Amino acid sequence: MAMPKAPLFFILISFSSLIHPSQSRLSYDYYSKSCPNFNKIIQETVTSKQITSPTTASGSLRLFFHDCLLNGCDASILISSTSFNSAERDADINLSLPGDAFDLVTRAKTSLELSCPNTVSCADILAAATRDLVTMVGGPYYNVLLGRKDYRISKSSYVEGNLPRPTMPMSEIIGMFAAKGFSVQEMVALSGAHTIGFSHCKEFKSFLYNDTHYNQRFAQALQNACADYPKNPTLSVFNDIMTPNKFDNVYFDNLGKGLGLLESDHGLYGNPKTRPFVEIYAKDQNKFFQDFARAMEKLSVYGIKTGRRGEIRRRCDAIN
Ligand code: HEM
Repeated sequence: MAMPKAPLFFILISFSSLIHPSQSRLSYDYYSKSCPNFNKIIQETVTSKQITSPTTASGSLRLFFHDCLLNGCDASILISSTSFNSAERDADINLSLPGDAFDLVTRAKTSLELSCPNTVSCADILAAATRDLVTMVGGPYYNVLLGRKDYRISKSSYVEGNLPRPTMPMSEIIGMFAAKGFSVQEMVALSGAHTIGFSHCKEFKSFLYNDTHYNQRFAQALQNACADYPKNPTLSVFNDIMTPNKFDNVYFDNLGKGLGLLESDHGLYGNPKTRPFVEIYAKDQNKFFQDFARAMEKLSVYGIKTGRRGEIRRRCDAIN
């Protein structure tokens, strides 16, 4: 006997009303009603921080990348270690993430909590602030979906194997991104982030003497710049020596001239899979901007938590 249609309809209706509103999807205007000043507060915080500390843009871009690649853009990198837990940010690869980037998120969170308490996630703050900073230093604008939740689990022991190191062969770096769903082209475009910021001498010094990819005069200059490194481990050099503070495609042009800083930067030019993209981006800044923007949009929703899989943290650096 055929089931009457009406009860089925009611069952569906009542099931859908059981779905909690906090499981809402991501959207571009997620905070338009709950925190209408969201964009304005992020903009103001980013602008004043970047003006007083111009390394904030590059620091935040790297912080965001390191948060996302390890188990998603969920602000787990912002959590401080406790006596019971060694957190992500204390893994050795993350120790060089600059304090200014963490401070930026803290400032934005403080203003947002005053304006709309308990509403905006730390993960959304980091995603939106990074986009605004990239644009501020000359990079492309891209849309950032909002509605991420924060995650409570942050362990330094999970980091190894999830973030690229300059000592890795390019094939391994390609494999690491591929395992997370990013193509070779997306990986190369994202690496264009090295158009801003700097690297500490320890990250490249050992390659200066035996790597033939470096332009000889550049290698000599780097050796001089890093000569005091054993005494002064904070010594660092711009990633893009030609236009260090401007987000542009000059980084890619440098690679073909032996002016890359890290071994992995040289690797992008040396590997037959990545080199074609390096050459395209070196010639065509618009193409680089388009691909970078698209890849950042993709990165910014990688592994995110929504609804009850995450929470809105009161403080970005602590889980309660
Ligand atoms: C492809 C493999 C990559 C490797 C091996 C790598 C490695 C590194 C290393 C060793 C540093 C120097 C850190 C320091 O000494 O403080 C650095 C800096 C940086 N990286 Fe990467 N990175 C890679 C890809 C990326 C990607 C995909 C992004 C962003 C989308 C990114 C963003 C940055 C930024 C902005 C800096 C400068 C940080 C600052 O100025 O504080 N990197 N990277």
